[in-house]
Amino acid sequence: MSSKAIILVGGGTRGTRFRPLSLDIPKVLFPVAGRPIISHALSALTTVPSIKEVLLIGFYDDSVFKDFLAEASREFPQFSIKYLREYRALGTAGGLYHFRDAILKGHPYRLFVIHADVCSSFPLAEMLSMFEEKEAKAVILGTRVEPQFASNFGCIVMDSATKKVIHYVEKPESHISNLINGGVYLFDRSIFDVIAAARNARAEQARDDPSEDEDAQEVLRLEQDILVRLAQADGFYVYETRGFWRQIKTAGSAVPANALYLQKLFQTDIDAPHLARASATIVPPVYIDPTASVDPTAKLGPNVSVGPRARVGAGARVKEAILLEDTEVKHDACVLYSILARGVKVGAWARVEGSHITPADHSTVIFKNGVRVQSVSILAQDVVVGDEVRIQNCVVLPHKEIKSDVENEVIM
Ligand code: GDD
Repeated sequence: MSSKAIILVGGGTRGTRFRPLSLDIPKVLFPVAGRPIISHALSALTTVPSIKEVLLIGFYDDSVFKDFLAEASREFPQFSIKYLREYRALGTAGGLYHFRDAILKGHPYRLFVIHADVCSSFPLAEMLSMFEEKEAKAVILGTRVEPQFASNFGCIVMDSATKKVIHYVEKPESHISNLINGGVYLFDRSIFDVIAAARNARAEQARDDPSEDEDAQEVLRLEQDILVRLAQADGFYVYETRGFWRQIKTAGSAVPANALYLQKLFQTDIDAPHLARASATIVPPVYIDPTASVDPTAKLGPNVSVGPRARVGAGARVKEAILLEDTEVKHDACVLYSILARGVKVGAWARVEGSHITPADHSTVIFKNGVRVQSVSILAQDVVVGDEVRIQNCVVLPHKEIKSDVENEVIM
């Protein structure tokens, strides 16, 4: 019996918290651990042999995914991958409904739906086993977060004996549970009946409220409109993962996501291509693109990705960082807890740094001397940092030249 997967990729008008990095590249194509964010989800889908087709649904222009689709089709020959474009943002369930004929073509028995912006160990096979064992209609991935972060997510109350979802509230105002929606679902085909019922209820409401415009009725939210309904019926279960999970929302969250995916790669495939071997100057895991050049006296790691044609000079130190293509870190410079976007140049003896956050911190904001700042320093495309300059906890917009020390600022 065949299955399909849908990855919700959103569009350019969303994901604004990923700026300034998304000015240059759509968030879902931003590389972490050397690969576009979305490729990590595609790799996970290869563990489910019954998946023959993956549909990316979003409202980006078609051209955005053209090159990616060509590359992904070569990398993942086991399934066909297509992009379906919503004519406007239809919400997390609106796109599913709009493209229901394409999704149901070939009579898939089960549908995985994945948010493109989650970083996870993606326990899809385990979700599938639960789905079959429980004869479920829907299984949601759940993960525990520290209680102070729970209200940023959909919160799940489950029956701990049966794992049945008994209550679901999207981003509640008060604490109801620290088991949250991990943005990965497995549905059977009856999900379209639930979406249709939600749509009809919406249309009925609109009849009573003539101020609601017709286009707005097309917008359906998986969370508020569908999951809440599923929780009121039978057959909705939660698979609680103990594997890693975090969202990639802000630009800074790419740094902990990079660390999590690199660690996974290091633990599961120590001989993975382009993972640098441990040595006096390499603290694993470190990913180095084969076209990058790293001086043997530079010290890298842990949790560093070095992109195509990047150059790292003698005596440099790079830790917990992403260096994108064509970046340059000159000799004796230091880059810590930071992202250097395409073409950034860091001068000799310069220091670009953010602050340490743990992957369990579901926020990239920290307080320094009572001021809210980004924990990760982000230098956008083609920024130039002068020799000996120190940058701490700053976001620098594209093409700026930084000639003197800066701290806790957004430099426009
Ligand atoms: N195709 C499409 N169309 N995709 C969309 C749309 C849309 O109109 N709106 C959002 N998405 C995609 C986003 O790109 C992202 O991958 C995912 O759907 C969820 O995005 P948001 O709507 O911004 O929700 P959120 O991230 O604040 O919260 C959701 O995800 C959390 C887990 O990461 C909720 O489902 C939470 O309950 C959940 O905990």
